[in-house]
Amino acid sequence: MEVVWCLILFSFILKASTLEIITPGQSIKDGETLISAGGSFEVGFFSPGSSKSRYVGLWYKKVSTGTVVWVANREAPVFDTSGVLNFSNQGILTLLNSTKLVVWSSNTSRTVQDPVLQLLESGNLVVKDRNDNNPDNLLWQSFDYPCDNFLPGMKIGKNLVTGFETYISSWKSTDDPAQGQYSLRIDPHGVPQLVVRKGSEVVFRAGSWDGVYFSNRKPSAKPSPLYSYQFVLNKNEVYYKCETKNISVISRYAMNPSGLMQRFVLNERKQEWEIYSTAQADQCAVYGLCGAYASCNSYGFTPCACLEGFVPISPSSGNWNSAEWSDGCIRRTPLACDSGDSFMKHTRLALPDTSKSWANNSMSLKECEELCLRNCSCMAYANLDIIKGTGCLLWFNELIDMTEFNEDGQDLYIRLAKSELDQIQRKMKSKKKQKAVIIAISIITAAGMMVIMVLLYIRKKILCKEGKHKEKIELPLFDLATIANATDNFSSNNKLGQGGFGHVYKGMLKEGKEIAVKRLSKDSGQGLDEFKNEVTLIVKLQHRNLVKLIGCCIKGDERMLIYEYLPNKSLDYFIFDKTRNRLLDWHRRRHIIDGIARGLLYLHHDSRLRIIHRDLKASNILLDDSMNPKISDFGLARTFGGDKTEDKTRRVVGTYGYMSPEYAFHGCFSTKSDVFSFGVLILEIITGKRSRGYSDHDHNLLGHAWRLWTEERPLELIDKALGDFYIITEVLRCIHVALLCVQLHPEDRPNMSSVLLMLGGESTLPQPKKPGYFIEKSLPSADKRSGEQSSSLNEFTITLLEAR
Ligand SMILES: *[C@@H]1O[C@H](CO)[C@@H](O)[C@H](O)[C@H]1NC(C)=O
Ligand SMILES: *[C@@H]1O[C@H](CO)[C@@H](O)[C@H](O)[C@H]1NC(C)=O
Ligand SMILES: *[C@@H]1O[C@H](CO)[C@@H](O)[C@H](O)[C@H]1NC(C)=O
Ligand SMILES: *[C@@H]1O[C@H](CO)[C@@H](O)[C@H](O)[C@H]1NC(C)=O
Ligand SMILES: *[C@@H]1O[C@H](CO)[C@@H](O)[C@H](O)[C@H]1NC(C)=O
Ligand SMILES: *[C@@H]1O[C@H](CO)[C@@H](O)[C@H](O)[C@H]1NC(C)=O
Repeated sequence: MEVVWCLILFSFILKASTLEIITPGQSIKDGETLISAGGSFEVGFFSPGSSKSRYVGLWYKKVSTGTVVWVANREAPVFDTSGVLNFSNQGILTLLNSTKLVVWSSNTSRTVQDPVLQLLESGNLVVKDRNDNNPDNLLWQSFDYPCDNFLPGMKIGKNLVTGFETYISSWKSTDDPAQGQYSLRIDPHGVPQLVVRKGSEVVFRAGSWDGVYFSNRKPSAKPSPLYSYQFVLNKNEVYYKCETKNISVISRYAMNPSGLMQRFVLNERKQEWEIYSTAQADQCAVYGLCGAYASCNSYGFTPCACLEGFVPISPSSGNWNSAEWSDGCIRRTPLACDSGDSFMKHTRLALPDTSKSWANNSMSLKECEELCLRNCSCMAYANLDIIKGTGCLLWFNELIDMTEFNEDGQDLYIRLAKSELDQIQRKMKSKKKQKAVIIAISIITAAGMMVIMVLLYIRKKILCKEGKHKEKIELPLFDLATIANATDNFSSNNKLGQGGFGHVYKGMLKEGKEIAVKRLSKDSGQGLDEFKNEVTLIVKLQHRNLVKLIGCCIKGDERMLIYEYLPNKSLDYFIFDKTRNRLLDWHRRRHIIDGIARGLLYLHHDSRLRIIHRDLKASNILLDDSMNPKISDFGLARTFGGDKTEDKTRRVVGTYGYMSPEYAFHGCFSTKSDVFSFGVLILEIITGKRSRGYSDHDHNLLGHAWRLWTEERPLELIDKALGDFYIITEVLRCIHVALLCVQLHPEDRPNMSSVLLMLGGESTLPQPKKPGYFIEKSLPSADKRSGEQSSSLNEFTITLLEAR
């Protein structure tokens, strides 16, 4: 009874405080709240994360997760539930603890007749004169002291007269709202820019205002459909403000404790925040990653490249193995200054750091060029306003922190010595000519081929009429001499690697084409016709995520497969290396995971053959020069496994760490054993750790992943090399899918078409069951001894004979 009575009393108090207004003498105790007029926001006491300390916070009332967007006493918690927030006659808010001492207070520079405290529908807690509704006459407002959330209607910027700055700052951790290391602010130096700082050091630059938005973030002349942005710069102040165009869209821009800025939009049906955009989406977001006079491109093979006319300062810059570019580039030809410089136009660029720049609103581009040319220390110019196409922006220092986009972006005119520019233009012209010649040749060739095809067709018709035609399968055959020549007689210098099916050599054909030759071990036990048939079918498999098989070579019992050669090595070369793994940012890793999934789907379902790879692993994923993954060695398992029945083999071919339990122990294989290996691969890509050889508290990688998952700490799996630059929801989804793929029972694992849907979609995923641990120790020792190739346990494919 008492409890019920208390609840009624409690709700009465709540009702009382839902009054829009609190007047002097009234207070809010721990447990009571103040609610905004439309019920969108609420102010009260809370404890963040696993902390027991009490804070006065402001949160979304209508969102079930109750996301806190502002904290009053972020630096000074109350340690029990005795806190009281009082409102005084002077319009000052004070937070008192059990000893009635002031823990936190608001302040104001003036007093009014009838001060009131009110929580507005925008999430702004304000102190104002009851009868004065002018938003400029507030005595105090929480919007002036933001924490980690930038809400629609808030301003960030600086009062250039008083020096008062409003900025977003991260929490220390999810358990501690005290001010952390990161902040988002307007840097007023030079031409003002929006930047993220860690301490006093800039770590990310959203750029200067370009008339639509901040120029570093894929600028586009199209205004955003959801938001309207405002940027004001005058003698008195500089600030930035953002409003939602559609009031029924609930959205916030927030900085997490590691400085990542993300815009969230509420999915009201699911009561979940969905990520709308991430400011630091890829490694090009790292301030100055490429150094001076270089640009970053997140789609290229290496992120950094010198601008045209510039060369790396240190020979190791841009070098693979160093993965260190910040030294930047210098001019190939020094500036001539008076005797003549010129400008080279670069397009689709995010403009360089403007903290030492100069701008004029009213100048034309032509005037801008003239002005820049006259001053020898002026390095570049650009339009200030991309909508109006006017204004002048000049750079007087080194150009740093530029990003290249594939579309949109801005034009930048960079100063070069005239002689250098002439040379570049000559080079471009000759390239154009070459292109024209190539196009002409292709047209002629194509025309010739058509004539031949028509002739062949006619001939075929005639042959058919004669009734002698037998469908002939085209099998690209190479003779042994050609291959021996190409590989320098299979010299060990040309050996690229070895697997359970044989050795792989690099080769070069006479006409200069590079190939990879797989020389199969001689015990395939397959008939010649069978072999030819299978190769013919596999040659026809074409998918951008599969390495292309060009042909084969048969001589006696010698059998070889000829593949296209990919110069950029395999996934394991990058992902497990402490320096090279930095080349694989999240964007690229995601791209690789998706590519492998597509290639595998094609093998399992879409190709004419149903192919089970049986040896999917990081070293079998080759990367082309745009980091597109290509699965290699596919089809071999099916073709050359030997001793195989529909789903069971005596000869277990695969690699420790990737093999599904049912395959390793019982030789049962199916598309689901590939799905298992794919799950292991995803985990390796996310963690940057080898499944084989990983051990932590007696767990292998799967066990480790499972433990962190069940302890709800999956983010600890993420490779430290990614820094903070990844999209949490995407990574979590990938981990979730990986765990579904490595479940113990094959029937629980999704097939590849579901995997692709899961990776791309937003649907809720089923909870994974415990993974199929496959720990080397648990292999019966008899198996090890009877291994056909002894289990020397290096990273190569191993072959085991199942003990019978
Ligand atoms: C704070 O408010 C409480 C409850 O209204 C009141 O008892 C107390 O005297 C106030 N304290 C101060 C310092 O104003
Ligand atoms: C109350 O706050 C004051 C001032 O911050 C502090 O010195 C005191 O220790 C606090 N008392 C308790 C019980 O937390
Ligand atoms: C109010 O307090 C804040 C932080 O304590 C301070 O930065 C600001 O200058 C004060 N404002 C006035 C008007 O006293
Ligand atoms: C505003 O957003 C709501 C919810 O997303 C949508 O249903 C509605 O069509 C939008 N209105 C306009 C004018 O865009
Ligand atoms: C900007 O350029 C215009 C036109 O050239 C000139 O009249 C004006 O004085 C310039 N403003 C500044 C601040 O330099
Ligand atoms: C060139 O511009 C810089 C930076 O604005 C200025 O300090 C310098 O005096 C200018 N030099 C000349 C010759 O105008």
